[in-house]
Amino acid sequence: MAVIEVEELEKQYKSGFFGPTIHALKGVSLHVEAGEIFGLLGPNGAGKTTLIKILLGIVSKTRGKATMLGEPAGSRRSRVRVGYLPEHHRIPHHLTGNTALEYYGCLSGMSVRAIHEKREALLETVGLRGRGQDRVNTYSKGMLQRLGLAQAMLHDPDLIILDEPTDGVDPVGRSAIRRVLKQIKDQGKTIFLNSHLLQEVELVSDRVAILDRGEVKLIAGVQDLTSDQKTYQLSVVGARDKITSALEGRELSQWQPGGENVHSFCIGVEDDGAVDYVVDQLRKAGVSIRAMSARKTSLEDAFIDIVEEAEVQRAAKETTNGKKTPSK
Ligand SMILES: Nc1ncnc2c1ncn2[C@@H]1O[C@H](COP(=O)(O)OP(=O)(O)O)[C@@H](O)[C@H]1O
Ligand SMILES: [Mg+2]
Repeated sequence: MAVIEVEELEKQYKSGFFGPTIHALKGVSLHVEAGEIFGLLGPNGAGKTTLIKILLGIVSKTRGKATMLGEPAGSRRSRVRVGYLPEHHRIPHHLTGNTALEYYGCLSGMSVRAIHEKREALLETVGLRGRGQDRVNTYSKGMLQRLGLAQAMLHDPDLIILDEPTDGVDPVGRSAIRRVLKQIKDQGKTIFLNSHLLQEVELVSDRVAILDRGEVKLIAGVQDLTSDQKTYQLSVVGARDKITSALEGRELSQWQPGGENVHSFCIGVEDDGAVDYVVDQLRKAGVSIRAMSARKTSLEDAFIDIVEEAEVQRAAKETTNGKKTPSK
């Protein structure tokens, strides 16, 4: 069973009676499976927070279907099994790590005794052991986010929803947060996280969706997106005709001469065995290999391609519209 199911979800915000309508989600469909870390990626304003808010019942949907843990999104029965770390969350400054957990735990209906029983282990998990007595205004941004994670996990939820968990956190703090997320996943929980930070999502998620201006542009496994495309880049020394005849029948691309008989090019291969074959053929032909590397497509490449493509299409549309409507 999918933990989150969203089908053709739409959200329109209306600002004031005469104000413009903002179409924040334009028919979004996605499924999150139990036990995975699912990353919803997109530039600011893409609609990520809106999607989360609909799931949690903080804002209402305009059209479409959204269920969480088998219950209608926003229903109390689904919410009690969810931990949530909001974007730009604020913990009252006068609280300590310990009292903050008491405060949030009580809000979710836990007894103080149950909170005390879980608190130490949770602070340990998020790397805040020994800091529970300190006031949160002495915490770094990374520590505040980790305390926010502890708060989200306190009532042992099945699903954890995190809105920009690493925003504003330094690289060391981010790596600590990633570690905590992996630990939460190892406990069998499902994590749904929003981020505009691509590399972060790539490092931690199993699957991602790319959202741009309210539309899902891509849903894919991070492995599929970032694993090598079975393309290798080679730099070799030898006559070009020797190289091409040694590798006859293979697609060679992106030739770049690099000086006397030095060539750099890309070659597509079907598997690792074929890589060995390519090397053997080149060596047999007396071609010397200087460098060889597997080319990877990063999530960032995919993301930028998608967002730029959308940008180009929008610009083209605007130009066409502009031509159709002559100025008066
Ligand atoms: N309460 C609101 N009223 C009006 N417009 C809103 C409201 N919340 C968000 N929006 C608009 O909806 C769009 C998506 O916003 P949001 O979901 O916050 O995106 P993201 O989290 O991806 O940055 C933006 O254009 C934003 O200005
Ligand atoms: Mg947001």
